[in-house]
Amino acid sequence: MTDSRDEPLVLGIETSCDETGVGIVRGTTLLADAVASSVDEHARFGGVVPEVASRAHLEAMVPTIDRALKEAGVSAKDLDGIAVTAGPGLAGALLVGVSAAKAYAYALGKPLYGVNHLASHICVDQLEHGPLPEPTMALLVSGGHSSLLLSSDITSDVRPMGATIDDAAGEAFDKIARVLNLGFPGGPVIDRYAREGDPEAIAFPRGLTGPRDPAYDFSFSGLKTAVARWIEAKRAAGEEVPVRDVAASFQEAVVDVLTRKAVRACKDEGVDHLMIGGGVAANSRLRALAQERCEKAGIRLRVPRPKLCTDNGAMVAALGAEMVARGRAASSWDLSADSSLPVTDPHVPGHHHDHDHVHEVSKENLYS
Ligand code: KG4
Ligand code: ZN
Repeated sequence: MTDSRDEPLVLGIETSCDETGVGIVRGTTLLADAVASSVDEHARFGGVVPEVASRAHLEAMVPTIDRALKEAGVSAKDLDGIAVTAGPGLAGALLVGVSAAKAYAYALGKPLYGVNHLASHICVDQLEHGPLPEPTMALLVSGGHSSLLLSSDITSDVRPMGATIDDAAGEAFDKIARVLNLGFPGGPVIDRYAREGDPEAIAFPRGLTGPRDPAYDFSFSGLKTAVARWIEAKRAAGEEVPVRDVAASFQEAVVDVLTRKAVRACKDEGVDHLMIGGGVAANSRLRALAQERCEKAGIRLRVPRPKLCTDNGAMVAALGAEMVARGRAASSWDLSADSSLPVTDPHVPGHHHDHDHVHEVSKENLYS
């Protein structure tokens, strides 16, 4: 597609966790990225409360869609499709997005694309750095997932090389921030404190890096326990906890393992591009160390800007636009939210793809 007017105009809706995201893209061009977050409502609970998130999505949905359309300067009737996160994520939160997407797609007579949140975290980089090379190695690090994925086509082929066997990287950041009384979410605040700390002050363990350990799997639960014990011991001895050094040393242990394994996977598979996506990809030290190690190994690194790493609607629109561009089947009207949608399913295709007959669909199906 050379003429940009031929590129699909897609609106994407993201509600898998605590951000109500609505993005609009044309092909691989970002037109709007509206996000309403309920993070402040969860902060006092130290984690996302599903019911609170669902209610916040419901309240934010229509205003956020209106804001995105206005920002993009497009009319809803010009859209070529509506994409929505079908999973994985919080079931009730996902349901709000899926219901809204169905209602808009049905009312406007547009095809509906239920897409995978994890594949969206990878595809979003097309908005920043253009079409993804094929194949691409992706290090996906978010609040719920840490995986190494090899993809030859982000709409249809995502192959897991390895994944965490216990906690996700983001989960570890959130947990350590809680032990240090730094609030929620933990990633950004640990990132901040770590900048003023010494990453070599404390030698925390690097999980699954022994010669007999699986090369591409991760484990952060041992690290989490080691850091918590170290802090407890300091407190028990009546000593002050050096928060900045703990943050820096903990962060270094996480990003050292992530980048080491990602570069190794690229080398082993002969892939010369590494993409890093998901909320933890916003981490400044992860970005710097990945850049350093990729350069040394002759690998091209692609990481979206931090705002596109954390949850947003633009990433969903980006994957939706890629689905349209590649002629993937739209989802059927009985699309449902799947809180544990596997990473290997970039989208949830329909039983039929004849969207000229939307009027034949019964209204009940819209909300199933
Ligand atoms: O992708 P994301 O926004 O939501 C999920 O899909 O889970 O990722 C959220 C996770 C949280 O655990 C948060 O602490 C972490 O990403 N995070 C960070 C940073 N910003 C967000 N972790 C480390 N450093 C950051 N700067
Ligand atoms: Zn995410």
